Amino acid sequence: TTVLVICGGISHERDVSLASGHRVSGYLQKAGWNVTMHDMDSDLLPYLSDPKTRPDIVWPLLHGANGEDGSIRDILEVEGLPYIGSRAKASRTAWSKPIAKNVVRKLGGLSTPISVALPESMFRELGARKVVDLLVDSLNLPLFVKPTQGGSAMGCTRVDKAEELPQAMVNSFAYGNVALVEQAVTGTEISVSILDIDGVPLVLPPLEVATPDGDYDYEARITPGPTDFYVPARLPETVLKAAQDAALVAHNTLSLRDISRTDFIVNESGTPQFLESNVAPGMTATSQLPQAAVAAGYNLPDLYSQLVESVLH
Ligand code: DAL
Ligand code: MG
Repeated sequence: TTVLVICGGISHERDVSLASGHRVSGYLQKAGWNVTMHDMDSDLLPYLSDPKTRPDIVWPLLHGANGEDGSIRDILEVEGLPYIGSRAKASRTAWSKPIAKNVVRKLGGLSTPISVALPESMFRELGARKVVDLLVDSLNLPLFVKPTQGGSAMGCTRVDKAEELPQAMVNSFAYGNVALVEQAVTGTEISVSILDIDGVPLVLPPLEVATPDGDYDYEARITPGPTDFYVPARLPETVLKAAQDAALVAHNTLSLRDISRTDFIVNESGTPQFLESNVAPGMTATSQLPQAAVAAGYNLPDLYSQLVESVLH
């Protein structure tokens, strides 16, 4: 059996994806799989259709656009290749933070911080001052501004003062033409990873992210050291359980498959507030999913093997 790990690509998260790809390939090789890594910087189709290189199964580890928006998965579906992870359509839904927030709130009954999705054209038409007044009046400070479609906290800014808002909007528009302006919830930042093994969801213990300055930005995500991770999160047992339940609700209502990581802020009254679900969670040495799995006692070569097996069978 040959496994093709697709990573890299031309998204903003190219480097993170290459790191995820190397990690997963290494673990699968250790477990005895015949693995090829393909940097998705060039055409995938000739590679998939050539009988000499066509794999038995694909693990798409592309982060960001093309990877998480479903487009590569569409190709895999057309090619009739089994792959690990959510279908193209579900990936597209999860990739749009405002759509995903609506889905889990309306269909799953989850809480999510109130937010506004603001297109760049509206920002330009109304002008910065008017937009600041409207957003601050309706949402109240502090806020987070981030691209509606993006990852690894790129283009994401915390806004504590109204005058910081226009720059935060412009930073977000560098990554996409709609910004999500979301109320910043005070609480504990956690993520809950799920792996579907033989049809049974394995819900890993919630992992708490504790950054020294409270800002889990791109640097903090790729640099080992300054960020402390706690597994399980330092929260009461009932809250941990509620977070695991909420992650499963998100996984199911968004029709996710095989692997996902859902991020929340647990507010001061202990309610997990949904931020987003990731269909291609980071798998690097500093990423949350592998850390949660190791802390829960899983061996990564075994766990990833089981995931590949269960998609193959
Ligand atoms: N977008 C990065 C890879 C993550 O969610 O871990
Ligand atoms: Mg993300």
